[in-house]
Amino acid sequence: MSPFLLTRTLPEDATEAALRADVLKGLTSSPKTLPPKWFYDAHGSDLFEQITALPEYYPTRAEREILVARAAEIAAATGARTLVELGSGSSEKTRHLLDALTGLHTYVPVDVSDSALTQAGHALIAERPDLNVHALIADFTVALELPDTPGPRLVAFLGGTIGNLLPDERAKFLAAVRALLSPGDALLLGTDLVKDEQVLVRAYDDAAGVTAAFNRNVLSVINRELDADFDPGAFEHVALWDAGNEWIEMRLRSRTAQTVKIPSLDLAVDFVAGEELHTEVSAKFRKDGVRAELAAVGLELARWWTDGEGRFALSLSTVR
Ligand SMILES: C[S@@+](CC[C@H](N)C(=O)[O-])C[C@H]1O[C@@H](n2cnc3c(N)ncnc32)[C@H](O)[C@@H]1O
Repeated sequence: MSPFLLTRTLPEDATEAALRADVLKGLTSSPKTLPPKWFYDAHGSDLFEQITALPEYYPTRAEREILVARAAEIAAATGARTLVELGSGSSEKTRHLLDALTGLHTYVPVDVSDSALTQAGHALIAERPDLNVHALIADFTVALELPDTPGPRLVAFLGGTIGNLLPDERAKFLAAVRALLSPGDALLLGTDLVKDEQVLVRAYDDAAGVTAAFNRNVLSVINRELDADFDPGAFEHVALWDAGNEWIEMRLRSRTAQTVKIPSLDLAVDFVAGEELHTEVSAKFRKDGVRAELAAVGLELARWWTDGEGRFALSLSTVR
């Protein structure tokens, strides 16, 4: 096979159809909501990369610390020949795993962001001419079909991205991941942990305003793709800690009463002043909760590692 393949597993028009359906449903619901996957056009993916370098955004550094310390152990425990990474983005931290997995045959990054996959894929094969990279443009919440590559298979889901799924979506997602695994395969899961509220809120409301720009970018995506007339500046970025659900919520608060027109959906959306559009949750976890959610789909938590400050966890689980 060629060292770099890029496969779109969704039909060409699926993204637009899914965006239309999500926007129609989300903006006519109460409260108004939008799913976080629509943040990630090329600009959104670039903003996310900037977020990972912010002083307030500790998860990337904490997870990298664990990967640097544990990659050799992960490689020895899994002996993976195929590494599948869901929501791979820039594949930046993944390089620590790729270095350690000496018997690796194929790396399969999976992401909705065409631009992130293309950039990451080309960089990786330039760095590692012996590695096969089969990138999939796909929505990991919709039935995934993986290429036929040699096992054992290690599925990695890093960055705490699992926290962006609501509990019922998470259970469905984990069951689907479990179905991709055979005996001898493993799941490597990154989960951000419950901690001091101020540390958490600052991570999603940085002083430089990069996360605010990332949050508002979803409005620009809808403007471009669906001809809407959102004024992103007319919405204030909000990040708050929901202690009951143990998640951070990002919202966009309408600064004034306004009506947004989306002609391609034949829709006019009224916002009252101060009304909040819910754009992302980012759940924070505890070890027992992660263990229970994995057990519920037939996965056994085999290893649990945290960074030195106990901010973030990486867990390895196997098929029971
Ligand atoms: C929080 S970022 C994490 C990126 C990277 N894994 C990291 O740890 O830095 C989430 C990534 O998942 C991708 N993503 C979000 N929702 C997705 C979905 N439903 N299907 C596939 N990819 C998705 C985004 O494009 C983005 O690259």
